[in-house]
Amino acid sequence: MRILVSGGAGFIGSHTVVRLIENGYDVTVFDNLYNSKITVLDKIEKITGVRPDFRLCDMLDYDSLENIFKEDHYDAVIHFAGYKAVGESIEKPLMYYDNNIRGTLNLLELMSKYNVKNLIFSSSATVYGIPDKCPVDETAKLFCLNPYGRTKLMIEEILRDLCIADKDFAAVLLRYFNPVGAHPSGLIAEDPNGIPNNLMPRIIQAAKGEIKELKVFGDDYETRDGTCIRDYIHVLDLADGHVAALNYVFKNRGSVAVNLGTGNGLTVLELINAFEKVNNIKVPHSFAPRREGDSMSTYADASLAKKLFGWEAKLTVDDMCRDAWKGALNYE
Ligand code: UFG
Repeated sequence: MRILVSGGAGFIGSHTVVRLIENGYDVTVFDNLYNSKITVLDKIEKITGVRPDFRLCDMLDYDSLENIFKEDHYDAVIHFAGYKAVGESIEKPLMYYDNNIRGTLNLLELMSKYNVKNLIFSSSATVYGIPDKCPVDETAKLFCLNPYGRTKLMIEEILRDLCIADKDFAAVLLRYFNPVGAHPSGLIAEDPNGIPNNLMPRIIQAAKGEIKELKVFGDDYETRDGTCIRDYIHVLDLADGHVAALNYVFKNRGSVAVNLGTGNGLTVLELINAFEKVNNIKVPHSFAPRREGDSMSTYADASLAKKLFGWEAKLTVDDMCRDAWKGALNYE
């Protein structure tokens, strides 16, 4: 079976491609390399022994995207491609709506035209905004605090509408919590463009001495140590979640949204401490004011993924910290 992976050269995409190949799927990746490098293909080949087919393609370029659909038949599409920086989306909302929404519409139109009716979509726990309660399950109310998040929510709505209109179409909307870690080989890892905003890349910069210290945003939340709680999940567990979701999408029609998290909440300080301990390195840090728009606590009720896909996260916080550091040291 051949799977088309949009954004397959990126962080979560490349790890998923590895797992797809290891599970016997043929893979075609397309990516515009806006936030990724072509060398990732060599690394995927080194890990799996197989080089995925690659097409340099921007999903906004309808004709070039159509050529990919003309070349082969795909049994399913896994759709990662999209802009993902919260701050940038506030500064450039039209760029985010244009790329993420129009790009997805192009993809969906071509899927319909070429009779590809199975989709896994890369959504995010960001659609829960600031949850009223945790663990948060898929029935929680949805709202977003920034244009990036709204593009995820709008695409979810588009897919729900499409599955109502076309009874042959199936879409699994995977709501990721906080992906961290890297392939244990250290060959593929997160490679944020410009100045990273997320916690793990900032921890790594502080550990490397690239920044003087990590700013911990807020020490006065009502949590066990005053810092925010998140559900960090190893990117390889996340990748396995996609393989499990594929098995589901082939057997079911309609749309379903499913959390991919561990179900365990960790504070910012707990993650820093785990990183320092497992890697035997200091992460210089100090407290700064709360960051606007941050939820105090967001962690998953991950039971639906187990029920529907038989999937649950297996890797530990120590695995996440060790692999993230190894990836950061090895990554070229
Ligand atoms: N944090 C710091 N210092 C930093 C960076 C982050 O203290 O330099 C804290 C944040 O305040 C937060 C936690 O670390 O408490 C995690 O922050 P991230 O920015 O890593 O992650 P978020 O949970 O805010 O957001 C992430 C992604 C979004 C995604 C969302 C889904 O950035 O793209 O998870 O919940 F939508």
